[in-house]
Amino acid sequence: MQNFNFHSPTQFVFGKDTETQVGALSKKYGAKKILIHYGGGSVIKSGLMDRVRESIRAEGLEYVELGGVMPNPIDTKVYEGIELCKKESVDFILAVGGGSTIDSAKAIGIGVKYDGDFWDFYAGKAQATATIPVATVLTIAAAGSEGSESSVITKTEGSYKRGYSNDVIRPVFSVLNPALTQTLPLNQTAAGSADIIAHILERYFTNTKNVETTDRLCEALLISMINEVPKVILDPNDYEARANIMWAGMVAHNNIVGVGREQDWSSHGLEHELSALYGIAHGAGLAIVFPAWMKYNCAHDPMRFAQLAVRVFGCNMHFDNPMRTAVEGIARLESFFVSCGLPTRIEQINGKKEDIPYLVEHLGLEGGTLGSFVKLTEEDCANIYTLMFDM
Ligand code: NZQ
Ligand code: ZN
Repeated sequence: MQNFNFHSPTQFVFGKDTETQVGALSKKYGAKKILIHYGGGSVIKSGLMDRVRESIRAEGLEYVELGGVMPNPIDTKVYEGIELCKKESVDFILAVGGGSTIDSAKAIGIGVKYDGDFWDFYAGKAQATATIPVATVLTIAAAGSEGSESSVITKTEGSYKRGYSNDVIRPVFSVLNPALTQTLPLNQTAAGSADIIAHILERYFTNTKNVETTDRLCEALLISMINEVPKVILDPNDYEARANIMWAGMVAHNNIVGVGREQDWSSHGLEHELSALYGIAHGAGLAIVFPAWMKYNCAHDPMRFAQLAVRVFGCNMHFDNPMRTAVEGIARLESFFVSCGLPTRIEQINGKKEDIPYLVEHLGLEGGTLGSFVKLTEEDCANIYTLMFDM
């Protein structure tokens, strides 16, 4: 196991009706004037926004609002938020929504405290040292941004989707009420679940040896997801299954299952180009990318893939042919995605082979490599994109 330094200071307030506590929690973390940030309107339609406003007003706190964050959030909304925060002397940001809204809030938070262009962080040109505190009321189990040190934003000009990670941007508190996810359309529930699974797998595929504890934590989370997601697909109002998925989504990505091990993240890199170009849900893109990435890289360490196949998918271990076991595991994962109604081939999202050079170029590798389990060259990436097609 590698040395590590793990700091996850977010306070999680979990369960039914917990959104009524946001006012008191915001006050506890020093808020005086809050920016309530939200997306395309689902939180208004569901009535959540009214409860949030009421809770904030009850504590005598001021607020301004900025909605309209799009899935796969863009830089122009971030600039708008930074300007609004400065104009209104906002000292606290409350993101009410999913990963897109939370990521936009995180970008605004560090942007306000920075003299330059916030995109510098995402372009790898600067490191954030301060933020306006950000808190969240989560409405979809997916990105894990409610507990993560990451934010992903798309630069409109050129459609570059880039992530930025820094402990500074971890939320101060996150309110997780699983009942809020009951209004999600089925495709969003499924896409969110694929994202959670992908966050675990990005950590699972490692070259670091002797990481049994985190291996087993990853496997437990994967098994939970495989058991709980079908329950929600059958009954979207199944609170207990939604609760398990929501907590799995946080645990999968606040990095407690990834410490002490090299992590890969090339599938996320490959996917970000799909969601940027085709405008699909990030999790739907991952259901296409991951099986292709696994098939391409399986030979690098068949025993690790076979371990996943046996421990998580209940495949038989073929000791004389671990590769056979490994391939069976990949097929089971793919079937699971299909059973959730997710796309697993790029044609299903109207992808075209002619787009592959554009996708590869946008990865921005410039002769370098992507990922760490196998360091992928541009040619490897093109081959993996090709594997995402049926024909
Ligand atoms: O915008 P509204 O109207 O709220 O609708 C949203 C949106 O259309 C809807 N929705 C959310 N909660 C709902 C609901 N509809 C009905 N009822 C509810 N309770 O669902 C749609 C998707 O929302 P979004 O916030 O985009 O989902 P998600 O949480 O999957 O976030 C995706 C973004 O997170 C990034 C992705 O790349 C993508 O941009 N990621 C962020 C990470 C991080 N910060 O740590 C890590 C992830 O790997 C990921 O890359
Ligand atoms: Zn993700």
